[in-house]
Amino acid sequence: MKRILTALQPSGILHIGNLFGAIEPMVKLQADENPTSPSGLRGASENLLFIVDYHAITVPQDPAELRHNILFATATYLAVGIDPDKTILFQQSRVNEHTELAWILNCLVHMGELERMTQYKDKARGKGEAVSVGLFDYPVLMAADILLYDTNVVPVGEDQKQHVELARDLAERFNSHFGETFVVPQPQIRKEGARIMGLDDPEKKMSKSASSEKNFISLMDDEASVLKKIKSAVTDSGSTITFDKTRAGLANLLTIYSLVTGKPIDQIVTEYAGKGYGDFKIDLAGIVSTYLAPIQEKINDYLKDETKLLAILDQGAARAKTIAAKKMELVRQKIGVKL
Ligand code: TYM
Repeated sequence: MKRILTALQPSGILHIGNLFGAIEPMVKLQADENPTSPSGLRGASENLLFIVDYHAITVPQDPAELRHNILFATATYLAVGIDPDKTILFQQSRVNEHTELAWILNCLVHMGELERMTQYKDKARGKGEAVSVGLFDYPVLMAADILLYDTNVVPVGEDQKQHVELARDLAERFNSHFGETFVVPQPQIRKEGARIMGLDDPEKKMSKSASSEKNFISLMDDEASVLKKIKSAVTDSGSTITFDKTRAGLANLLTIYSLVTGKPIDQIVTEYAGKGYGDFKIDLAGIVSTYLAPIQEKINDYLKDETKLLAILDQGAARAKTIAAKKMELVRQKIGVKL
């Protein structure tokens, strides 16, 4: 059975880029029923989705806020349709095999490979020598996350592709040093939505850490903020609604429109023939708010019942641990530390 895995950082409220780039593909995967999964989960593939709290601490975190963000992320996944009976939903730090395997992979990875990582270069820029070793080593922990579960497919946004490629290289390197141990994973990048761009700067991806709130639409934005952000979204000096990658701002808004409504972009373009940016933006804001409202209601409901959230995470950690512990036993044996 195919194993599919992805993870997100609990760094504050998620935005629609995270939703469409990573979570929604996991929700869709749950659709195919197959009651024969070895873990007892229902679904045609075995799916894992987790909250990478140890990745989040590679930049300073307020402990109380981090705790809240972990619960918030759990509530969000459930609200958008992750079913804990079909997807193993858990918190990374609860399965200590992740950090154990990361250490072993650290001894195989080369400094040069990590120095080439685009995300590290972006995040370290301007920090000089004060950049944390954790930030540098982040892709190795991510490789451990993936390899521990013999993952076949990793649905991620475009920005994480390089990290999944490192996981592939490390799997191959380990296998050639110590014999066949890890499955070599494939990144899966969806065609549309793999890279939702910033509303205030359509040349860069939408990001939680952007300097302006106008960059992203958070899943918790109310109607007024969605309208304000979409109205002020950067577009070009044209006036017609057409899909053209060189008109990056408009192309991004059309992509969001298509993802939210499920309509193909061509159809949206036809519907807006003869209309201008103003009408389009107002309609889009309405569509996005209508889409988010029930999700927000569900997130708030889940957050009211912390005991339930903790129970779901407990169950997920126990399931993940069963797979991870077995793999680590094999890894210890392969490298010669198991006596
Ligand atoms: P993170 O938390 O930065 O982002 C979570 C997921 O959301 C995707 N994403 C986007 N997709 C489309 N448009 C955007 N603007 C956008 N911004 C973010 C990301 O590509 C990602 O899929 N290192 C990872 C988390 C991680 C992981 C893993 C992922 C840790 N271990 C193992 C997969 C497998 C990260 O920081 O993602």
